[in-house]
Amino acid sequence: MVDEHKAHKAILVYEKGWLAFSLVMLVVFIALIAYTLATHTAGVIPAGQLERVDPTKVQDKGPWADPAQAVVQTGPNQYTVYVLALAYSYQPNPIEVPKGAEIIFKVTSRDVIHGFHVEGTNINVEVLPGEVSTVRYTFKKAGEYRIICNQYCGIGHQNMFGKVVVKE
Ligand code: CUA
Repeated sequence: MVDEHKAHKAILVYEKGWLAFSLVMLVVFIALIAYTLATHTAGVIPAGQLERVDPTKVQDKGPWADPAQAVVQTGPNQYTVYVLALAYSYQPNPIEVPKGAEIIFKVTSRDVIHGFHVEGTNINVEVLPGEVSTVRYTFKKAGEYRIICNQYCGIGHQNMFGKVVVKE
């Protein structure tokens, strides 16, 4: 009788232990998912800065419509460049910016997912139709920088290039 009671108690402790363990694991999993979501989204779109745009109208109106007016001076030494990615090129091309100025690239796609990587820099973002990817950079050296699409986007993907010309 005494032993039975002890055994029952032991089982209860055992069960409580497992229950606590499952709860801890549940919390750990939820935290991991939240962390992954937060860090992944932060890499592509800065938190709280999610900008949306209608990809079917992006070439008709708005800042991406006219490649000739894509480079906008937004401060004494700051420029915003509206870059449109499309199969299989970038607009404007070339992108001309001055050396030493803060350049804010706002990149969106008209059709499918593209990449926007500027060779020789850490500029490297995914470009999604309907969303605006923002990346800031200051070119310290004048010259020509090649833009590469590093997301497979179709038959012309390997020939999808653009150019940034940084002037003195
Ligand atoms: Cu665009 Cu690959």
